[in-house]
Amino acid sequence: MSTHKPAKIPPFPHIAASAHISSETVRQSFCDTALSQRDAFWTQLSKVIKFHKPFNEVLEWKVPRASWFKGGELNVSENCLDRHLRDRGDKTAIIWEGEPEGQTRKLTWSELHALTCRISNALHAQGVVKGDRVLVYMPMVPETVATMQACARLGAIHTVVFGGFSSQSISDRLQDSGAKVIVTADGTYRKGRFMKLKSVVDEALTKGSHSVTSVLVFRRDAAQECAMTAGRDFSWEESVLKASPARAPLPLDSEDPLFILYTSGTTGKPKGLYHTQAGYLLWAHWSTRWLFDVQDNDIFWCTADCGWITGHTYIAYGPLSNGLTQFMYEGAPTHPHKDRFWEMIDRHKISTLYTSPTAIRMFMSSGEELPAKHSLASLRILGSVGEPINPEAWNWFFENIGHKRCPIVDTYWQTETGGAMVAPFPGATVLKPGSATKGLPGVLLDVVDPDTGKSLGRGKKGALIIREPWPSMARGIWGDPARFEKTYWRSSPAFDGVYLTGDLAMFDDEGDLWVEGRMDDVLNVSGHRIGTAEVESALVGHQDIYEAAAVGVPDAIKGQGIVVFVELTEKAYRDIASGKRDIDSIKNEAREQVGLEIGSFAKPNEVRIAKALPKTRSGKIMRRLLRELAVNGEIRGDTSTLEDFSKDALTEE
Ligand code: WT7
Repeated sequence: MSTHKPAKIPPFPHIAASAHISSETVRQSFCDTALSQRDAFWTQLSKVIKFHKPFNEVLEWKVPRASWFKGGELNVSENCLDRHLRDRGDKTAIIWEGEPEGQTRKLTWSELHALTCRISNALHAQGVVKGDRVLVYMPMVPETVATMQACARLGAIHTVVFGGFSSQSISDRLQDSGAKVIVTADGTYRKGRFMKLKSVVDEALTKGSHSVTSVLVFRRDAAQECAMTAGRDFSWEESVLKASPARAPLPLDSEDPLFILYTSGTTGKPKGLYHTQAGYLLWAHWSTRWLFDVQDNDIFWCTADCGWITGHTYIAYGPLSNGLTQFMYEGAPTHPHKDRFWEMIDRHKISTLYTSPTAIRMFMSSGEELPAKHSLASLRILGSVGEPINPEAWNWFFENIGHKRCPIVDTYWQTETGGAMVAPFPGATVLKPGSATKGLPGVLLDVVDPDTGKSLGRGKKGALIIREPWPSMARGIWGDPARFEKTYWRSSPAFDGVYLTGDLAMFDDEGDLWVEGRMDDVLNVSGHRIGTAEVESALVGHQDIYEAAAVGVPDAIKGQGIVVFVELTEKAYRDIASGKRDIDSIKNEAREQVGLEIGSFAKPNEVRIAKALPKTRSGKIMRRLLRELAVNGEIRGDTSTLEDFSKDALTEE
């Protein structure tokens, strides 16, 4: 965060003129009412949802258990699809482009509805009923959204695993969720190559125990080979396409789980956060509407993958609930040309682009000549998510993509929060490059002292907390209620009954929020959360590695990169001495090991070999020192609490 005054960009009159929330006064009155007349406010907003049975209580709250819209019955898929059939049946719901040039598909609401019903019927034929878990390992194709909607239709709980995750990660998630069916595809095009997905699933199914009885396989490219196991694997043709295009949505309780999504924490084991029906849908609906100021002829593009929370809320649910046409792209942003994104924006007249700081920095690095070749005149609103956006990237995006006429909506939130918590309203809020600005209605933020939990007020950096429950908050960690309570709602006596985000932040003198980043051992690499403990546990799985420590270092494109320090086993040293092994191949294998255990996106930038990792007297690895060493090349900080610290111990071989 820079110390000089940030730039301020007042709302554009051309946006405010037609915006749903057209002034700061209106925005503020929403926020005031949400807190002062909570029940009336949410009851009013809930009218957008079709309930089969009305709820009898807006909120029942007993830390850490929330029931929003208690007693209500609804179906999320009905609210995203069926509801629009009458007025928008022929409207395009999804425009899709495959990575190989020239592959485009369009699905209307009626078509997406029929596809969703077919998938529901196919899942049902495999024995999937309400409450069952379905693991989804799919490329970015409309079928992925339809599969998520199909689960919602049946009351099955989807757990989408990003296609970049390894077979080990799938296996862990299968075990933890107890999923009984997997929906996957032969593969997907990425950077010109056909990346296999089904074979990764096959491998996952040979690891550990699981409860999977069937696998539905979508064919992204029928010309590619795809091995099928008889009796377990079912082709899309025989299962989905032959199924009936009609299926009634099952009314579900407001608090029945909708999905589980795994995310990294401070231990080696990813946690499966789960979200429920009514509160989540309501937030997905209104946050999409307010923050992207949904207009009837908008073409919305959220560039996230369905495997992350952004792809859940702002691809699979929010846009569909709003009847908003969206664009979906399969592949890499730079393939086959570095201006692929800008080409597609012009081709499809995209009005809203919601992407990440890491993508923006990547485009920046290839120069402004590339976007300058394209008109980009259809763009109206830009969005950013995943990590703090540095003002340089903000300005570049604002000038070169938005041509200084598109507001940038920087949305701060988390897998746990279900939807955006802090963000400007494009027709109302004064923008400040680098600040996500103000909390959404009903989001009572505070910045507090990390030790005492006392409010710090403006101008002081501290722990970001949320004081009151909100409708789309995660309801728990799948199978581990105690961990949920301890991690988020009772992390220490000073934080009893408030939600701990785990981020460090500050309010400026105008009450705008500046989020700095995580205050725990969680890294944010290209907007993806990775726990240092996960990386370390992958590394010690290597035969030559005895101990490991992972730290985050600044990375010009990825935001944060990973540097790992490893201690080798005595045997490894003997092998090196005798010429049987060499340091470079051990370093390469260490990187690969992380790719194998977690996924390629988590591979460290650098592997360093240490004779001994610095530890405190109680045996904790001093990551702070390692981080200093990785960033500055030397350690200047206080080393007095170390058990045995000699500069020598960290010298590389
Ligand atoms: C963490 C959550 C929200 C969906 C994508 C990531 C960081 C996210 C911002 C932002 C500053 C941000 C935080 C947060 N983060 N968006 N606009 N400004 N920081 O979801 O994987 O659950 O990660 O991402 O550190 O805690 P996630």
